[in-house]
Amino acid sequence: MPAFRTLDDLDARGKRVLLRADLNLPVKDGRITDMTRIERLVPTLRELLDKGARLIVCSHFDRPKGQRVPEMSLKPMQAALTQALGSEVRFADDCIGPEAEAAVAALKDGEALLLENTRFHKGEEKNDAALTQGLAKLADVFVNDAFSAAHRAHASTEGVARLVPAYAGRLMQAELEALDRALGNPQRPVVAIVGGAKVSTKLDLLGNLSKKVDVLVIGGAMANTFLAAQGHGVGKSLQEAEMHDTARQIMADAKANGCEILLPKDLVVAEAFAAHSPNQVVGLDAVPADRMALDVGPETVKEVVSRLASARTLVWNGPFGAFEIAPFDAATVAVAKEVARLTEAGSLTSVGGGGDTVSALRHAGVSERMSYVSTAGGAFLEWLEGKELPGVAALSR
Ligand code: 3PG
Ligand code: MG
Repeated sequence: MPAFRTLDDLDARGKRVLLRADLNLPVKDGRITDMTRIERLVPTLRELLDKGARLIVCSHFDRPKGQRVPEMSLKPMQAALTQALGSEVRFADDCIGPEAEAAVAALKDGEALLLENTRFHKGEEKNDAALTQGLAKLADVFVNDAFSAAHRAHASTEGVARLVPAYAGRLMQAELEALDRALGNPQRPVVAIVGGAKVSTKLDLLGNLSKKVDVLVIGGAMANTFLAAQGHGVGKSLQEAEMHDTARQIMADAKANGCEILLPKDLVVAEAFAAHSPNQVVGLDAVPADRMALDVGPETVKEVVSRLASARTLVWNGPFGAFEIAPFDAATVAVAKEVARLTEAGSLTSVGGGGDTVSALRHAGVSERMSYVSTAGGAFLEWLEGKELPGVAALSR
């Protein structure tokens, strides 16, 4: 893992600390529907305020594409932050310029300010000098606590870190340490579970994982593509016929790398993609032409559980089945519970994240019982793909 400075290295008293958060929270009808990202951020904010920093929080929200879109204002997050911290967080209507500068100048030690959406400026996504300098002007030091936005080389994630002394916040630090334990420097054997709909969107991920892990378990609809590529009938299951050659190549490469790929041994097939659609468990080669696989079967779960028993590390991205609709959550829930049990027993380090993995783990009731569940979607995936994340690289300069 690249070395980076943390809050341990920062004497924050009296300093203007620009903190990049990820306040891109899910919002429905003007209400925040999931506070996880704020909850995970609070320890960093609390620590900096307790140390007497003058705290300036910035973030993007949604994708306003350089325009001032009122519905994409960060203003609603002011109340959420104030409540989470138990002390007032002020708000500035712009993230750079005279208004932001005046609000920063008015801050006393231990006080906090939230700046308006960085993506209201075109320069944010372009990582341009004007925005970067405008942000740098506000701050003595920069703390990045937005691992989940670290795959973006934007002004507030990457650019400003080049102009102002940069540190990792506690959440960033926790994410990086967990990821290092999972793939950077893991205890072996390492098992990865990858699910999801499409092989085509996870090519880089499968390629990188097959070089790093000992067992790669493939679930979700992408498993159908692998099964079909092996000559098994998959009925009307979701699959990508044009990816069969690629799937066979991935299997050959994995074998050459000494990575075992574990495909489903049995499937739960249903009439339709609907909750409680009539269903049955079938072996491979017994999928009726008019049925679709919506989950993996109990034999597959048994096999995965037996591999986990001897594993020391697990990386999990993507559910086994259509976990949003009952009863096709069964395999995901069963494996998740076993992962939680092994983690609590101390035999397994378990890290999950990316896409709908977090909702699947939460649905299974285990997100608090795993070693680490990432708050990141795209950034977690890019990291699993072995890519350098610009926001992280900027911290280790
Ligand atoms: C996320 O929610 O995944 C991050 O905040 C990044 O958002 P983006 O995909 O709009 O860059
Ligand atoms: Mg995203």
